Amino acid sequence: MKRIFLIGYMGSGKTTLGKAFARAMQLQFIDLDWYIEERFHKTVQELFAERGENGFREIERNMLHEVGDFEDVLIAAGGGTPCFFDNMDYMNSVGDTVFLDVNPEVLFRRLKIAKAKRPLLADKTDDELMNVITSALQKRMDFYRQAKYTFNAERLESYEQIG
Ligand code: S3P
Repeated sequence: MKRIFLIGYMGSGKTTLGKAFARAMQLQFIDLDWYIEERFHKTVQELFAERGENGFREIERNMLHEVGDFEDVLIAAGGGTPCFFDNMDYMNSVGDTVFLDVNPEVLFRRLKIAKAKRPLLADKTDDELMNVITSALQKRMDFYRQAKYTFNAERLESYEQIG
């Protein structure tokens, strides 16, 4: 039985690579954001707007535990998933975790064209976007580094597909 969690910042390629890995490994692919959207019949932006970030994080934790029971799956977590509650310990205890490591400049290039769907980034100017990315990574890296494996995912060229 295999259960793999892909973690990393927004734009690191969790969904794009996750789909490809899942197909190659014959695992079911689950994107946690999409799973939440289907269960709640609302977009991530709508959930953020209605319940605030804290409300979203609670839903995210509960849904993580729901998909964490599934077998033979590859789960793309949300960028913030590992950094709240005991989510990182939980993922490490029920499966293998893989961190998609991408430097801030590359994330910035990707997210500049893919920020609209992300409530934490949508209204940011270029300067603000770079600041948000670098300060978030400073805080989040301690969590991301707890992954069992790290994969450098900088050399994906089709940025428009990242997300
Ligand atoms: C978030 C990342 C998003 C989504 C939400 C918050 C974050 O997921 O869960 O907008 O805090 O980094 P992706 O990393 O799949 O875009």
